[in-house]
Amino acid sequence: MPRTKSSKRWLKEHFSDQYVKQSQADGYRSRASYKLIEIDDKYRLLKPGYRMLDLGCAPGGWTQVAAERVGSNGFILASDILPMDALPEVTFIQGDFSADQVFDRLLHQIGEDGLDLVLSDMAPNLSGVKNIDQPRSMLLVELAFDIACRTLRPGGSFLTKVFHGEGFDQFVRDSRSAFGRITTVKPSASRSRSRETYLLGRDFLG
Ligand SMILES: C[S@@+](CC[C@H](N)C(=O)[O-])C[C@H]1O[C@@H](n2cnc3c(N)ncnc32)[C@H](O)[C@@H]1O
Repeated sequence: MPRTKSSKRWLKEHFSDQYVKQSQADGYRSRASYKLIEIDDKYRLLKPGYRMLDLGCAPGGWTQVAAERVGSNGFILASDILPMDALPEVTFIQGDFSADQVFDRLLHQIGEDGLDLVLSDMAPNLSGVKNIDQPRSMLLVELAFDIACRTLRPGGSFLTKVFHGEGFDQFVRDSRSAFGRITTVKPSASRSRSRETYLLGRDFLG
């Protein structure tokens, strides 16, 4: 298949990217691991023994970091529309998170004990057309917020990728009514030209 200008640029950037090199050296499955490492080093979200959900987990870079920091006494449930190679101590459910059956399977797996932390790094396949991509990504963010509100224990935390654009400000306002503290974070491994940022809600009000 002929390579387009943008795919050539992506390949060039990818192979010269310090986080890609670092992830290969450290044995992480994706450069995204360093986003979570940076956020967690600052905000201490991952604690030994925690019960947590990792949405949009494939290929597993965040899940690897979570497993290292939560340890084997915790509970990690991970999910993606794509398959993911198994990781020890991680329960994986494959499916489209916007499908009711998948949402319900996750709720069932979490059970009555609830969670300390919900992570979502989900992002739809981008078409490049803003009016299509933004609503798709906001739907995933809002569904992640919904499962966080249904499963977090009071005091729990929620970290989600969210894209600047239509719906962003309203989402931040809605999050303020559910969490005691709301912060937006742009880790250094997040490419500066990307509209992605991360919203962190702490002290879930329950
Ligand atoms: C940026 S990647 C996640 C990278 C991952 N956090 C890591 O560290 O390796 C975004 C993920 O969101 C997933 N995704 C997109 N739409 C989804 C959906 N409807 N349901 C579940 N996962 C979805 C994609 O398949 C992709 O694996």
